[in-house]
Amino acid sequence: MTLRTPEAWTGRFGAILAVAGSAVGLGNFIRFPAQAAQYGGGAFMLAYFASFLIIGIPLVWAEWTLGRMGGKHGYHSAAGVLHSVVHRPWAKYLGGLGFLIVTLIFVYYISIEAWCLGYTVNALLGRFDGSTDYGAFFGTFVGAGANGSAIAFGLGDLGLFLLATFALNFYFIHRGISRGIETVCRYALPALLALALVILARVLTLGTPDPTKPDQNVINGLGFLWNPSKPGLSVFDDLANPQLWLAAASQVFFSLSIGMGVIITYASYLKPRDDVALSGLTAAAANEACEVGIGGTLTVPAAYVFLGASGVAALAGQTIGLGFIALPQVLANMPGGQALAVCYFGLLFLAALTSSLSMLQPGIALLEEGPGFDRGRSVGLLALLTALGAAFVWYFSADLKALDTIDFWVANVLIFIQATAVIIVFGWVIGIKQGLAETRRGAKMHVPDFVGPVMKYLCPAYLLAIFGLFVVNKIVGWNFRFGADAAFSPSGYVTDLVGPEPSAVARASFALIVAFLIFTLLLVRHSARRWQARANLTPAPSPLNPSSR
Ligand code: TRP
Repeated sequence: MTLRTPEAWTGRFGAILAVAGSAVGLGNFIRFPAQAAQYGGGAFMLAYFASFLIIGIPLVWAEWTLGRMGGKHGYHSAAGVLHSVVHRPWAKYLGGLGFLIVTLIFVYYISIEAWCLGYTVNALLGRFDGSTDYGAFFGTFVGAGANGSAIAFGLGDLGLFLLATFALNFYFIHRGISRGIETVCRYALPALLALALVILARVLTLGTPDPTKPDQNVINGLGFLWNPSKPGLSVFDDLANPQLWLAAASQVFFSLSIGMGVIITYASYLKPRDDVALSGLTAAAANEACEVGIGGTLTVPAAYVFLGASGVAALAGQTIGLGFIALPQVLANMPGGQALAVCYFGLLFLAALTSSLSMLQPGIALLEEGPGFDRGRSVGLLALLTALGAAFVWYFSADLKALDTIDFWVANVLIFIQATAVIIVFGWVIGIKQGLAETRRGAKMHVPDFVGPVMKYLCPAYLLAIFGLFVVNKIVGWNFRFGADAAFSPSGYVTDLVGPEPSAVARASFALIVAFLIFTLLLVRHSARRWQARANLTPAPSPLNPSSR
């Protein structure tokens, strides 16, 4: 193996910045408000905070801790980290899921990121004004509409921007951990915060723009997000809906980038004595501030003021419709609409960029330490692999079918499996005592004892319950509600694959997932052979013997 200078963050702050950059993304600014709107605000927020406390923080700590442990042994990919920490044959394959998940998410996330770039450029060029029909623009731009052509390269098409976004991501990844990722986050995060504050200030001072509709004011918009009960309904009516719990948990995963091996990889570049407890909590808190404080506070009231309660309800769950059609339309109605559009799309693009970079590094880490490729070759190979996937998603952009199908299976099923594996490794295989002792090593905060049972029992139980709900509700299609009649309808994602009228694109997307899965399994198996051979040759690297890293 060639010797590389070990890569590292420039400090603990660099790691926090990068993890926050990974977490703060499109999930915060468009997925979260769309989910909150769908499940009626306040009740969703209750389930959301419960999920944040019971699965969010435990997984954040488990992943930061495992990552730093693996880094001590010289491993940086989730597969390598679990292999080196757990010493069981299955561990590396569960870690390999990390590679699979982020690589697959990247192939569609990059598309959405490219939309953001394209919209920013169009806004900067003044091509959006009060009369823009964003729905029509969107249809042509992404080729999602009937008359849209997917493969086109004009200013109003995806092509050019997809290529540019792709190149930009790989350029920064090639520059490395501190010179690439950390540098981007150092500038992008403050910049996106500034842009968000501009829009936030505008939205929160809107008051009641239409005096004929006194109801549609900012305060009621905030109430829509936060009030736990709606007129005539108690909060328990909403909380009795299992789908709400499912949606809340999924949002916590997606938003914090947990259950995907990203944090494990990032934390592995820490030094053995660097704090993980406070760092993890800080990055998670930064994400929540952006999600609830900015994403929710900006989007929901803005939409409410102009569209009213029924208008917001119509956006339910429409992450993409909300982000690229409805909200831009709403912003265009405000004084200063053109400048706001630049801020808004610029904000989305920067948020997406720091997230997509973090989806590439786990793959680079595995290719470097598995087959032992140098950085250039790892970057090249990953670029090739993800280009195939991204081209697939681009080509099948009608109805966003490929994007949607891959997102559904990866962001629900695979993430739950990986997350459950990680928390069980932490609480049961390593053991909660030793695990927490690791978390506390070098910790700049007190990690209280009650965290032990939460991480060992409550978190895995909650995860399994949520996954059970998912299978019952979304796969089998038994839509029950506590205290109401059950309905039975298998989800469209399932009937697309095995129903009477299967969708060819959905099936091809599923096949793509399987192909990536096979590639991952072979890659991990090959890597493990090399790790075994190396372990047989040299004494295990240890913190006392850092030269063997
Ligand atoms: N957390 C990111 C967001 O809020 C999205 C995301 C999902 C992500 N999975 C990821 C980011 C994996 C990095 C790595 O938009």
